[in-house]
Amino acid sequence: MPDQIPARCVIVGCGMVAQEYMATLTAHPDLVRVTACADLDPERARVFADRHDLTPVTVEEAVEGMAGDLIVILTPPHTHLALAERAVTAGVAVYLEKPLGDDAAAGQRLLDRARAQGVAVGCAPDTVLAPPARLAAQLIEQGVLGTVTSASATLVGPGPESWHPTPQTLYAEGVGPLRDMGPYYLSMLVHLLGPVSTVHGSAQHHRTPRHTLGGESFPAQSPTHVNSLLSFASGASATLTVGWDGSVSATPHLEIRGTDATLALPDPNFHHGTLRLRHSWREPWKELHPPAADPPPGRGIGVLATTRRLTTPHPPWESAELALHVLHLIEAIEHAATREPCPVPAHTR
Ligand SMILES: NC(=O)c1ccc[n+]([C@@H]2O[C@H](COP(=O)([O-])OP(=O)(O)OC[C@H]3O[C@@H](n4cnc5c(N)ncnc54)[C@H](O)[C@@H]3O)[C@@H](O)[C@H]2O)c1
Repeated sequence: MPDQIPARCVIVGCGMVAQEYMATLTAHPDLVRVTACADLDPERARVFADRHDLTPVTVEEAVEGMAGDLIVILTPPHTHLALAERAVTAGVAVYLEKPLGDDAAAGQRLLDRARAQGVAVGCAPDTVLAPPARLAAQLIEQGVLGTVTSASATLVGPGPESWHPTPQTLYAEGVGPLRDMGPYYLSMLVHLLGPVSTVHGSAQHHRTPRHTLGGESFPAQSPTHVNSLLSFASGASATLTVGWDGSVSATPHLEIRGTDATLALPDPNFHHGTLRLRHSWREPWKELHPPAADPPPGRGIGVLATTRRLTTPHPPWESAELALHVLHLIEAIEHAATREPCPVPAHTR
């Protein structure tokens, strides 16, 4: 663990999202100095290092703490926990991209070890720290919505093949929209409404094969449309729909409903956007603009939040604990989706 700020930070995984992280981290040299990068593919690490004036190091050097105080893991989800485990064992602080990993039991072991050793672990998504989430939390806290009774979270789109150059991995077994996009929606719901105690689930496999932008076909090995009903410890309930078999939706990404008002939030995958509040059907929706920040927040603000507390006696585990709860929810939804649904007598017309 570092004893001073700015912390020396090492990027592990020099792919697509690493570019976005660099934009955020280099805008805050008072908190972090990205000094090195590593990738399973050394050529990728070298190219990324050249582009950002970093030292390319091996993955081993990064996780053993030889190149920096904090490693930021931006690799595919199934590699997250093994890399983080090695770093925490070596006493190196860690920040992970979402999801925390692919196995909640292993995620729990990581956090147990981090606590035992006093090593900081943070996890994305960090949009719960962004201005729209802050404003929503403030309105709920102030009682503007009354008692929050229900919510809905909806992502319906054509799937990542509409923009991602190599979408195949996002349809591999154990991925799909629930594990790839679910963390944004579930994290925001739990952040605003508190922990979930039970879930129902259903999962469909609508459209396979899929096609890359280049026209290559590939199979969808995970469910492509998932619905869930979440019951919160507070008594509120929410529906979650995440699907890559549609085109567009008019349903808000997130809607929180209380006894006095309804709040619609912008896309929880991003750090900006306008909220809408409505008190009754007699009144129009009112737009609420979160305060602007300079520099504008983007992917990586969770690293900054983690870094701010690296040298304090209380390492920041809250975001990783939220990510672990979300991973438990994902597993519970997947399990619930395998249960037999309640049959309905045939309808004849
Ligand atoms: N691409 C996005 O827009 C985006 C947005 C938000 C979050 N994320 C998350 O970021 C993470 C990375 O996604 P990405 O799109 O940048 O992936 P990517 O495939 O573009 O990059 C991943 C990089 O990790 C490297 N890698 C793989 N296994 C490794 C290992 N064991 N050790 C070291 N390096 C390894 C790969 O060689 C590759 O360079 C994922 O968890 C994803 O969910 C991605």
